Amino acid sequence: MNSKKPFKILKESEVYPPSEDSWFFADVLLEEVRGLSFSKVYFICEIGTGTGYISAKLLSHFADIRILGIDLSWSAVKSTRECFGKYAASRSDLICGNLLCPLNSRKAVFDIIFFNPPYVRTDIHEYKSPSTELVRTWAGGPDGTFMIRDFLTKLLEFRFEIAYFLSSSLNDNDKLIADFPLLDFDLIAERHVADETLIIYGIHSK
Ligand SMILES: C[S@@+](CC[C@H](N)C(=O)[O-])C[C@H]1O[C@@H](n2cnc3c(N)ncnc32)[C@H](O)[C@@H]1O
Repeated sequence: MNSKKPFKILKESEVYPPSEDSWFFADVLLEEVRGLSFSKVYFICEIGTGTGYISAKLLSHFADIRILGIDLSWSAVKSTRECFGKYAASRSDLICGNLLCPLNSRKAVFDIIFFNPPYVRTDIHEYKSPSTELVRTWAGGPDGTFMIRDFLTKLLEFRFEIAYFLSSSLNDNDKLIADFPLLDFDLIAERHVADETLIIYGIHSK
């Protein structure tokens, strides 16, 4: 189960570099996956792979998982492919696309879906027309939750055991949760960084 192969992170100017949120999310998911029974192979989907850091970490620790990575950015998909390397090629697939939109919700079933989304509060202009590709990776719109809301809306169409996403204490997460009554939210973990607390939520469909 535990293969712990090394992986390489490519630094590309357009791709979100692994940061506090990525490290936090990877730590939490390693613990969550470690807690599974491993009586079967687990199918995981990461939305917004960026460099591939989080998924590569999971693939390097657990042999009995398969990961489908999806990112809006071609540069991110290329970085992730490099990062996964040859040893994880048979256990992973990558798609360039928007959220879960490339998938057929009647056929695609996952044990885990996760997304470290663009969640930083920005003005609407910066969200809709980001000045650079890098800004697009973190710009979350006026309340920081614009992309999270699109993700949760799409998630409602899919079958999954649990989904995770990250947000910030600077966002109005109570309103976000109230706006999705068909989903059950659990606060899984918090980590204080600089002037905010990063929060990881787990979601089950009701
Ligand atoms: C905050 S970065 C996280 C990157 C990486 N998972 C990490 O934790 O280091 C957000 C990622 O989501 C991708 N992204 C943003 N909007 C997306 C969308 N609608 N569909 C798929 N990926 C998206 C961005 O290209 C970026 O790679």
